[in-house]
Amino acid sequence: MKVGVLISGRGSNLKSLIDACASSDFPAEIVLVISNKADAGGLEIARAAGIATRVVSHKDFASREAFDREMTAALKNADVDFVCSAGFMRILSDEFVETWRDRQLNIHPSLLPSFKGLNVYARAIEAGCKVSGCTVHFVRAAMDEGPIVAQTAVPILEDDTPDTLAARILTEEHKLYPHALRLVAEGRVTIVDERCVIRD
Ligand code: GRF
Repeated sequence: MKVGVLISGRGSNLKSLIDACASSDFPAEIVLVISNKADAGGLEIARAAGIATRVVSHKDFASREAFDREMTAALKNADVDFVCSAGFMRILSDEFVETWRDRQLNIHPSLLPSFKGLNVYARAIEAGCKVSGCTVHFVRAAMDEGPIVAQTAVPILEDDTPDTLAARILTEEHKLYPHALRLVAEGRVTIVDERCVIRD
């Protein structure tokens, strides 16, 4: 499976996917990394791994649709058949979501459907939750919604700050995203009534 990864920043999840793809039995390869920001740290990570990169700045386009069409053109040009969003901080147009329907994953640092959106760590602590975690899901038009492929729960400790919780969740994200991508790439995930059924 040829994968394109969308990023906006640091790229630590991108790195976990690159590392997983480097193992010879991993059923996917990353052929393109697109960032909407030229200074995203993840671009350096991709270049160091010899992966093609493209900067598509949303500021260069008059509309969300035009920006998204340019990304789709770049992905198709690279023969991408599956998209992974990894810290990509733009809302996607309905058109982009439909073009890549059931062929796009996202990772989010909470146990969805709780805590969609931003400031998830502070909100989970504030709510007095005893666990949070991370979720990999198929992308749908509504932000942070879509069939859930895999989740990991992470305890929230009495003395957690948003930063300490974020760090503990991030460690789990780096295991979860490669795991979820492998399940999908091996053809073990079927979407039934907007729920993922995992074979074996
Ligand atoms: C991760 O916490 C991810 O779950 C969220 O944005 C963050 C991206 O971090 N969507 P990185 O760029 O992968 O290091």
